[in-house]
Amino acid sequence: MEQLKVMFVCLGNICRSPLAHAIFQRDVDVAGLSDVIHVESSGTGSWHIGHLPDARMRKEAASHGVEMDHRARQFEASDLSEYDLIFAMDRDNKANILYLDRNGENAHKVALFRDYDPQAELGAEVPDPYYGGARGFAQVYEIVERTSAQLLDHIRKTYIEGAK
Ligand code: 4NP
Repeated sequence: MEQLKVMFVCLGNICRSPLAHAIFQRDVDVAGLSDVIHVESSGTGSWHIGHLPDARMRKEAASHGVEMDHRARQFEASDLSEYDLIFAMDRDNKANILYLDRNGENAHKVALFRDYDPQAELGAEVPDPYYGGARGFAQVYEIVERTSAQLLDHIRKTYIEGAK
């Protein structure tokens, strides 16, 4: 079976999506699925290309034993064909991804990450913590932790167990 390629996308790729990347990768590793699922993240903006995640996000993640060493990169139109599943952190990110899908042929791959949050309504967003305080980073951590688990469960049932 070819690897299933999963991409998380936010604005800067230094707070929310690299956290989702790190937590989901940890969950994939624990589930023994590292050979089956490939995980990546990116940002729709270009300001932080090459940067490590924001120090505030890394500090919050480290307090839960999660290391973040991703280097930011920008989402590209070619990622729409390259990746199988693309999860946007907020509705702006999703709109910007879909804007790059000129003929709409990959739109079915794009969803909001929090559509898999067991505690949220459909259409909920991961709030951008960049201009706020430490509480915002802790909140993002909680959202991403529980959503990642539910998302992996969904992906296993839909794409992996059914494909065996
Ligand atoms: P992220 O947060 O999209 O979760 O990585 C942000 C990071 C940087 C900026 C905005 C949001 N910025 O405006 O530079």
